Amino acid sequence: MYFYILTLFPEMVMQGLDTSILGRAAKRGHIVIETVNIRDHTLDKHGKVDDYTYGGGAGMLMQAQPVYDAYTAVLHQIAARRQMTESEAAQETRVVYVTPQGRTFRQDMAQEFAGEEDLILLCGHYEGIDERVLEEIVTDYVSIGDYVLTGGELPAMVLVDAIARLVPGVLHNADSTVTETFHDGLLEYPQYSRPEVWHGRRVPEILLSGDHAKVDAWRHEQSVERTKRLRPDLYETYLADRERAQR
Ligand code: ADE
Repeated sequence: MYFYILTLFPEMVMQGLDTSILGRAAKRGHIVIETVNIRDHTLDKHGKVDDYTYGGGAGMLMQAQPVYDAYTAVLHQIAARRQMTESEAAQETRVVYVTPQGRTFRQDMAQEFAGEEDLILLCGHYEGIDERVLEEIVTDYVSIGDYVLTGGELPAMVLVDAIARLVPGVLHNADSTVTETFHDGLLEYPQYSRPEVWHGRRVPEILLSGDHAKVDAWRHEQSVERTKRLRPDLYETYLADRERAQR
């Protein structure tokens, strides 16, 4: 899967994503993460990418031209690789603008995006981006939560991390995305490693029993109990989904 991140701060994004699991996945070719510096695409001879807002008000706004040209540069690459026209590439490719005004990011959205071959993420800064270019290129508006950050870089990194780990081959143990938190709408059960007793606390006896069916049942119970206690909102959804499935 190819991720293209349009940003004014490419080093920040690459430093965060080029290490650990994602760095390894990129080296092995399971994912490609490319940043495009929006500033490289401005036609302004002083390298300016922002200006005052019409109608007044505090702060500067990112202008449409450099954002649009950074986007078309990416489309050009996608079209060449996929042997299609740029207009076909535009039709095929989702463009995510990360903004507090978007839909709140969730695991099911990560799963859906992980099915794409290409994904473009657009990071805003200052007071945002000229509405006209957003109308023209953005397909999805996504927020990572109800708080305001200084820019879209951290949210874009959060999205890429959550999506990339679902791409086949990125994690060695594909099982770990099946049993983990949120997979079936439940939080993950508690886990233990050696030693059997630590600070006087024993590992639950059932996990030492070697009875896999019992272990699975215990883990499921723990997941349900935990979800009910820590995330009553998720628990309600889980119950409703189960009821619907049984009907
Ligand atoms: N940009 C600034 N704050 C944000 C947030 N909470 N989610 C996504 N993008 C943002």
